[in-house]
Amino acid sequence: MTTKIAFIGFGGVGQALAKLFIQQQEDLKKKYDLDPVVVAVSDVMKGSIYHPDGLNMEQVLDVLEETGNLENYSQEGLTTGWNSIETIKHSNADMIVEVTFTDVKTGQPAIDHCRTAFENNKSVVTTNKGPVALAYNELASLAKEKGVFWGFEGTVMSGTPALRMPVTTLAGNDIKEIKGILNGTTNYILTEMEKGQTYQAALEKAQALGYAEADPTSDVEGYDARYKAAILSNYLMDTPIAAEDIYCKGIRDMTVDMVKDALAENKKWRLLARITKTNGIVEASVKPELLDADDPLAGVSGATNAILYECDMSGPIMLTGAGAGLIETGYSLLIDIITFRRQHALTKS
Ligand code: HSE
Repeated sequence: MTTKIAFIGFGGVGQALAKLFIQQQEDLKKKYDLDPVVVAVSDVMKGSIYHPDGLNMEQVLDVLEETGNLENYSQEGLTTGWNSIETIKHSNADMIVEVTFTDVKTGQPAIDHCRTAFENNKSVVTTNKGPVALAYNELASLAKEKGVFWGFEGTVMSGTPALRMPVTTLAGNDIKEIKGILNGTTNYILTEMEKGQTYQAALEKAQALGYAEADPTSDVEGYDARYKAAILSNYLMDTPIAAEDIYCKGIRDMTVDMVKDALAENKKWRLLARITKTNGIVEASVKPELLDADDPLAGVSGATNAILYECDMSGPIMLTGAGAGLIETGYSLLIDIITFRRQHALTKS
């Protein structure tokens, strides 16, 4: 079955998903009866193209690579120049892939994109943390009221299913606590410091390897992990907590001596996000914590992420994997779209 798709934003993650559509085309059709047809791509820097019958995405990607501008792509009947809101409102897309460059402090423009899509009866998949951390209740109720799908698996741990796995596979458990290493940059810095590197040298290496943001404040101050903790609380603990109400301390003050002293006592520092439910009250924090070296979370090193769910029936379950990366994050959108397709198939059968 055809799913008409509009990309809002077309940076590395969007392009990775477009390439997955091309590479996986036959499998997606055969295994999931999913036939994604990209009808629009709108990017504030790269231009905007729309064709109701679908674009040739191999050519779109080639043109973009060669010229840097989507509007150099040609096809009879093509519309160009629509902004993001016009594309969401006026295209015939069923599914909006929202991957814009969004300010996580305000959640914009991604929040407006999600809201406009839902108001126009369109489903959304996104990797932007802002809408889920800051406007979850409003957007989730609007999507429900309109009977459309909202997927955001990639907002926490990219393509590692930190959100859907507990909801689907661990269904029936009461999750009393979630703790996780949710930021790759800081975990990389801490494990490099365990090898004797200074904080500054480790940070520079993390930047060179592409883990850290160009301005790594959000990573090292713990803000990135704090947004993810808010998402986990909203989605898995059914308790909205405003990101700014979550206690947050990053790793900026950590020294090699602190890390070495911990190792001498058979312990390791890890930046942990912790969401705890006690007598129905949910609290969250992000801070460096000293773990015994045999704690499963202490064994997670480098840029890898991990999350541990304390479940009442199955006991502790830990999930570990990538927390960033273009293909991994592009894949998280594909998981959401396959889930959308499966739900759609169920409601139609
Ligand atoms: N800079 C983030 C990290 C990317 O280091 O984990 C994923 O949000």
